[in-house]
Amino acid sequence: MDFQLPILAPSILAANFTQLGKDIDDCIKGGAAWIHCDIMDGHFVPNISYGPGIVKAAKKAAPEAFMDVHLMIQDPDKYTEDYVQAGADLISVHYEACPHLHRSIQNIKKYGIMAGVAVNPATSLYNIEPVLEHVDLVLIMSVNPGFGGQSFIESSYKKLQELADLRETGEHGFLIEIDGGVGLKNIKQTAKAGADILVAGSSVFKADDITARVEELTKLIS
Ligand code: DX5
Ligand code: ZN
Repeated sequence: MDFQLPILAPSILAANFTQLGKDIDDCIKGGAAWIHCDIMDGHFVPNISYGPGIVKAAKKAAPEAFMDVHLMIQDPDKYTEDYVQAGADLISVHYEACPHLHRSIQNIKKYGIMAGVAVNPATSLYNIEPVLEHVDLVLIMSVNPGFGGQSFIESSYKKLQELADLRETGEHGFLIEIDGGVGLKNIKQTAKAGADILVAGSSVFKADDITARVEELTKLIS
């Protein structure tokens, strides 16, 4: 699948769940091609968000959108199929939640969808080097996972550049995603630092005009 990079991926964690379909529609109207779904279990991260039913509903609201599912859960292998059935086009699992990461990645790819690996701010990229040739995307957390609306961790810029270097030297083809605290003030610099997919939750859904905000953020990275 070729994408016109870089891409803005609105995270619906910050959406107004009393009108989720409308909020998603407003993003699509603004040109969003990806929707980021944050799944949290209250164990791997100190918050519970939503499950496959919401991913299915989001897919129904925007059948043409690419569903980017971010599993911040323990034992993700147990739930991968549920998210595939719900309509996930890509599933990212956390390095920190997978004792058998290579097998977890294969467990996603066997369904014919894309597989990603996510790393927390305190996790070195060298921990995931052995799987870089197997993944379609690497997700760099630029906040500690669990909540929207947090501040961007500045050292993430350096991590983005490091990952871009690893991709080049290893001649890998994975996409680089940045997730957490991305907004009007830092999205341009984040894209310049090497992010292909830029997740934005509060910056999109807390705006008065979601469609205009998606257009504005997209313009800043084009
Ligand atoms: C945090 C999630 C992020 C978050 C982004 O654990 O992975 O996707 O929802 O929200 P903002 O853009 O508000 O930081
Ligand atoms: Zn996320």
